[in-house]
Amino acid sequence: MKQAQLEQLLGQMTRKEKIEQLQQVTGDFFSEEQTEATGPLSGNNLTSEDLIDVGSALSLSGAKAAKKAQKEYLEKNRLGIPLLLMADIVHGYRTIFPIPLGLAASWNPELVEKTASVAAEESSVSGIHITFSPMVDLVRDPRWGRVLESTGEDPYLNKVYAKSMVEGYQGKKENALQQYGSIAACVKHFAAYGAPEGGREYNTVNMSERELRENYLPSYKAAVDAGSKLVMTSFNTVDGIPASVNKYLNRKILREEWAFDGVLISDWAAMKEAIHHGVAATEKEVAKLSIEAGVDIEMMTFCYHNELEKLIESGEVSESLLDEAVLRILTLKNELGLFENPDRFTDETLEADKVFSKEFQDIAQIAAEEAIVLLENKESVLPISENENVLFVGSHVDSSNILGTWSWKGDPTETKSVADILQSDYQNANTRILPIASAFDVTQEELETALKLAEKADKVVILTGETPDMSGEASSRSDIRLPKAQRDLIEKMTKVNAKTIAVLFNGRPLDVTGVSQQVQGLVEAWFPGTSGAKAILNILYGNKVPQGKLTMSFPRNVGQVPVYYNHFNTGRPIDENDLENKYVSKYLDVENTPLYPFGYGLSYTKFDYRGFKLVKSSDNQLKAQVTVKNTGKVAGNETVQWYVRDKVGEVVRPLKELKGFDRIFLEKGEEKVVTHEFSVEELGYVHSDLSQRYDQGEFVLMVGSNSAEVLEQNFTI
Ligand code: IFM
Repeated sequence: MKQAQLEQLLGQMTRKEKIEQLQQVTGDFFSEEQTEATGPLSGNNLTSEDLIDVGSALSLSGAKAAKKAQKEYLEKNRLGIPLLLMADIVHGYRTIFPIPLGLAASWNPELVEKTASVAAEESSVSGIHITFSPMVDLVRDPRWGRVLESTGEDPYLNKVYAKSMVEGYQGKKENALQQYGSIAACVKHFAAYGAPEGGREYNTVNMSERELRENYLPSYKAAVDAGSKLVMTSFNTVDGIPASVNKYLNRKILREEWAFDGVLISDWAAMKEAIHHGVAATEKEVAKLSIEAGVDIEMMTFCYHNELEKLIESGEVSESLLDEAVLRILTLKNELGLFENPDRFTDETLEADKVFSKEFQDIAQIAAEEAIVLLENKESVLPISENENVLFVGSHVDSSNILGTWSWKGDPTETKSVADILQSDYQNANTRILPIASAFDVTQEELETALKLAEKADKVVILTGETPDMSGEASSRSDIRLPKAQRDLIEKMTKVNAKTIAVLFNGRPLDVTGVSQQVQGLVEAWFPGTSGAKAILNILYGNKVPQGKLTMSFPRNVGQVPVYYNHFNTGRPIDENDLENKYVSKYLDVENTPLYPFGYGLSYTKFDYRGFKLVKSSDNQLKAQVTVKNTGKVAGNETVQWYVRDKVGEVVRPLKELKGFDRIFLEKGEEKVVTHEFSVEELGYVHSDLSQRYDQGEFVLMVGSNSAEVLEQNFTI
């Protein structure tokens, strides 16, 4: 349809029809398919007549159900405006990839883009048009359960992944949404949802606008610049005003400064929660504030439905605000090609053929392998050799519940556990498998058997971690250690067998300080998804060399939180030559540094960095080189990380900021010169007047294998 036709269509709509386009309800209003409720269901007074015009539904999928719902809907809708179907396809549809925090640890944006395009293809043939992803919230507090969905603590890396995910879902071509296998992206949660006070879910966010613009907004902007068709508001306040009714955020920054002309959708009930926040007293006030703030779709509350008509009739709200919102929704439907083909790519045959195909499961395996981070490998306890006699024990040994939250269509019953793969693929391996029934309780009998077997084993692998419901939305924790029963098990096992390796399944950086000292090997597997078990065993047995690197710091204990690499120096930094000085910024009982820093991850080989030099430093371009040599015994991938410090800024600058990275592969003994170029614009930051620009003066350029171990060079701009 041409724009003029859309406008004509708008002109034919009654006010009531227009208002219903702004309403989103769950899929079960249209189908028998059950949906998961992550917010209130009450307050709905929609009649079956209203449903004829409701503009969109969330969490309805399956080719047959989606086609049926669309057909029945269109039979009744007066103007033949198709229904939009949206869902949370966060790390895969039915083929589940590692959680996003794990995917990010691959430092492989092309791979992440590929996972998004697989998720798009699977979900588009199953009836979905839009995913509520990517989630690009910058995170610094592992108590917050949703860090699992984020790509970590770094604004630069978050921007890179925001773009790769949007392009993976939507495609990159002109009219990409008309291309087979695409779905529209909805970047969330705008804005700063990742900074709730105390890491408590849905809690207040409080930061300066400068901080917001410098660290938190760039990833949403990157998604918008990459063409994300939708943006979702967040639950939190931004400078005292809930994001969903925040006109400055949504009209001034999002629409005016960033020229976003797509659809802005509220999070579930987030508009109406302005009443709980205390900035609106009634649904009527909520509706007025939200439409003025530019929110186009209201998810699962009914303030627009109940109040907008009256507000327009009384002249308190201009009908033009309604019209512009409706036009944006119609434009989105048109860009998706729904007017011409309301079923779009929904197709039962393709669904049967593509969804959870071997090809996609193999991609999930590569993603899970690249996501795994080797945290400890004392005395090269890993990899295990196939003739070693190994005991596999723990609550996660025979669990196929390793998909993690937001894996809606992912099915644990078709997911293999580590025990399954050991039995099918490692028949020659000299292994014993001992599942522990509960993650929270190890019985005396289980413990005695485990200790007896451990004594006789060459090595012990303990598969341990969080249960899936311990991280994700509404899963904040104030104690981020492993459950006590598991910590005790690890401690006891390491006393009878020093060659103990722990494999962690979890959705957040955990406090593993005690565990890391007790074990010889520590492997972060996250919730690894559909093919995770295979990937883990490939790493443990050395069929794959670990290469993942953390994108969020692991604290030494929860009291350090938030601890992140790109922090400021403070006025009283620790002086390494005067560690006794009390009156500096430090704790009395723990170091300032995290246990495992941003960018950290071991390999089965070693990489030596030398010959770091600045080749060229002109007015606007910077070129640096470093030689990296694989000095270990096997080939491997390395992520070379480039950091910068602006020594004197107009406002305080972080001690380090990631400005780029290069992934390289080196054969055993091989060396490569890695060259990286930066534009001086990349040295810019948000000044006190909120302008983005760089300062002239002295800088430090750093390169290394992680944020804590770097070579340095000074330079002047
Ligand atoms: O997309 C999600 C959001 O991240 C949290 N609240 C519910 C939405 C829809 O399921």
